[in-house]
Amino acid sequence: MELSRLDDVEAFAELPDVDPDELRELQLRRLRWSLRHAYDNVAHYRAAFEAAGVHPDDLASLADLARFPLTSKEDLRQNYPFGMFAVPREQVARVHASSGTIGKPTVVGYTAGDIQTWAAVMARSIYAAGGRPGDIVHVAYGYGLFTGGLGAHYGAERLGCTVVPVSGGMTARQVQLITDFQPRIIMVTPSYFLSILDEMARQGIDAAESSLRIGIFGAEPWTEAMRAEMQQRARLTALDIYGLSEVMGPGIGQEAAGHPGSLQVWEDHFYPEVIDPRTGEVLGEGEVGELVLTSLTKQAMPVVRYRTRDLTRLLPGSAYPAFRSIEKITGRTDDMMIIRGVNVFPTQIEELLLAVPGLSPHFECVLTRPGRLDELNVRVEAREPTADTAALAGELVQLIKDRIGVKVGVEVLAPESVPRSQGKAVRVLDQR
Ligand code: DLL
Repeated sequence: MELSRLDDVEAFAELPDVDPDELRELQLRRLRWSLRHAYDNVAHYRAAFEAAGVHPDDLASLADLARFPLTSKEDLRQNYPFGMFAVPREQVARVHASSGTIGKPTVVGYTAGDIQTWAAVMARSIYAAGGRPGDIVHVAYGYGLFTGGLGAHYGAERLGCTVVPVSGGMTARQVQLITDFQPRIIMVTPSYFLSILDEMARQGIDAAESSLRIGIFGAEPWTEAMRAEMQQRARLTALDIYGLSEVMGPGIGQEAAGHPGSLQVWEDHFYPEVIDPRTGEVLGEGEVGELVLTSLTKQAMPVVRYRTRDLTRLLPGSAYPAFRSIEKITGRTDDMMIIRGVNVFPTQIEELLLAVPGLSPHFECVLTRPGRLDELNVRVEAREPTADTAALAGELVQLIKDRIGVKVGVEVLAPESVPRSQGKAVRVLDQR
């Protein structure tokens, strides 16, 4: 297809036909522009490039990107609030910010052109998931400084959908709106979708009978076991969407309908690399490490080799062969727990507890350090109030021991005891 039409809704059906060589050429051209833009207009990048002894003109091939310095969340914090902007503040049409549970939040900015690009990649993502112009889209990602709500909103509008901008929270009303407006698509965090499903059950509504047919779930890691749970309860197709505010927001990668397991990265706007998180060395396709992203077209806040802290690996494209994909994210380097020398991610716990029929997907991992070593206590709800909680706990303890090789504590609680999320679930409670 004509690459100049990549972002046109009318041309989305041709995206699988993109010529890989043409795409690489486009990337190289855009990458040169982006490095130059960052170097010329952001003091941080100029200093970092100079310290590393590189100049934008040194980029002869895409592989040369590896010579450029990595950028971390700390770099963004140090330039709080607007120090990473590459255009005069007056040209910034919008800002978003991360929640910033510790320290200062990180602030990101968009020109009017960036917002258009973002809407285009989001529209593409919804299309890849099976959405079409005319669909009703219920957006239950939070609206505000978080990028989920507005990102989904602009993308769905751009695709030509009817958007219901509900945001997160007021769960009973979410259920009412789904019942009354009959959306075909819901965009929401998987953990909050579970809360919506529970509310439906409470109201005596069979989720499988609802109008929802596609769920576009992201903003937090979720497992195949969770996919099975959501698909079975709501009789929809559950697909994964990835992104982060520092790089744009949602819409950097999308799992395409019929191709579960990996997320297509929209490589004409975002260039992915995977590195060894300890050494910074670039890893080959198929090797698991930390995802690093470089923006190719962003105007207000270009990012060069941004360390996402998300663990995955690069895979060949599936539904869209020219674009590489990433495997479903297993976790963040920050969420990794080390229990007696073994690395444990909340997603591994999720996968295993959903293998125990009596346990619900509502759980949290409590980390303590009673002596010299960290201990993990998994708090999880039983599905039924009358369940034999001791037996269920024993079953999960054994399963975790057999599969992950560590001894953890498990506390099985009555239904409704674990706090519900209205956005991203907090899976790890650090009480060390
Ligand atoms: O969570 C953007 C987003 C909104 C993505 C809605 C998808 C849907 P941040 O708040 O900056 O942005 O958080 C970004 O969330 O680095 C990952 O650790 C995690 N994350 C996002 N999507 C996924 C996913 C938004 N599909 C951080 N799977 C990222 C696993 C995800 N983790």
